[in-house]
Amino acid sequence: MTEAPATCPDTLTLARRRLSMAAATWFMTAAAGQWAFIAFIVLFFTPPLLHGDPLAMNSKPHVSGWVPGDAVGNSQFVAHVFLGALVTLSGLLQLVPAIRRRWPALHRWNGRLFMLTALVASVTGFYLTWVRGSQLNLSSALSTSLNGVLILAFVALAWRSALQRDIATHRRQALRAWVLVNGVWFLRIGIMLAGLGLMPFGVEMHYDGVVFLGVSFASWLLPLALLQLYFAAERAPTPRAPNVAAAALFALAGLTAAGSAAAVAFMWWPYL
Ligand code: HEM
Repeated sequence: MTEAPATCPDTLTLARRRLSMAAATWFMTAAAGQWAFIAFIVLFFTPPLLHGDPLAMNSKPHVSGWVPGDAVGNSQFVAHVFLGALVTLSGLLQLVPAIRRRWPALHRWNGRLFMLTALVASVTGFYLTWVRGSQLNLSSALSTSLNGVLILAFVALAWRSALQRDIATHRRQALRAWVLVNGVWFLRIGIMLAGLGLMPFGVEMHYDGVVFLGVSFASWLLPLALLQLYFAAERAPTPRAPNVAAAALFALAGLTAAGSAAAVAFMWWPYL
């Protein structure tokens, strides 16, 4: 009896596999950087509260931070940073394929937690920016607020498509919400990459300068645009687009790792 010839996957299937491997590589790199962000928030902000010395939170620069006598502003500030850690953690768990496959109930409950914390974190962020007046400048306040408005919009769209059991739409809207929720993390990675990239040219980044403004808007607009290109590459009928997207994602994983390492070294570790 002759053996059946081994089937050879066509070039489009191979390109799609390459794309999904590249996406997984980028995600694992980003996840490491986000764990560092979560760890920093918990390790930096918890001890001052436990020791009853909240002013110790100001041992690192903030926009306003802990302001003695401002009970409402301080509670919004503290709630905002811890909800920031929680929504980042919940978003990470939501994207792990094994959890979606093996524990669908956990995926649904964590999805609700993600959406709720994204909503409350954004609303407390609006309070800090526009009521408390915690602004580096008007342009960056507008950029973060636009990011926040889009978080609310895509969380609502992801929620609606989940209720309608429209899984393909839900995946797209939830990934957009995830990218937007991570805008503040991308901002930190972007500040590090831009700062280090400009250093050899003797250019310093200032919070009211054009480079910071560019990084500020790019921190959520660029990931959102790249995600759109990723969706297009997934559906492309020829191998070219998935191959190019895979190469871009591998390169982005390298940049993400470099930006995350720099954020740990220069932004977070010195304050722990
Ligand atoms: C939902 C995703 C968000 C996360 C994970 C997040 C996370 C954080 C974290 C960790 C800090 C503390 C940074 C530090 O001082 O070390 C912070 C500060 C801040 N966030 Fe957010 N944030 C989010 C959304 C927003 C939005 C949508 C706005 C505005 C509309 C906003 C406005 C602010 C402001 C004004 C501060 C500075 C507070 C101060 O230093 O006094 N955030 N955020």
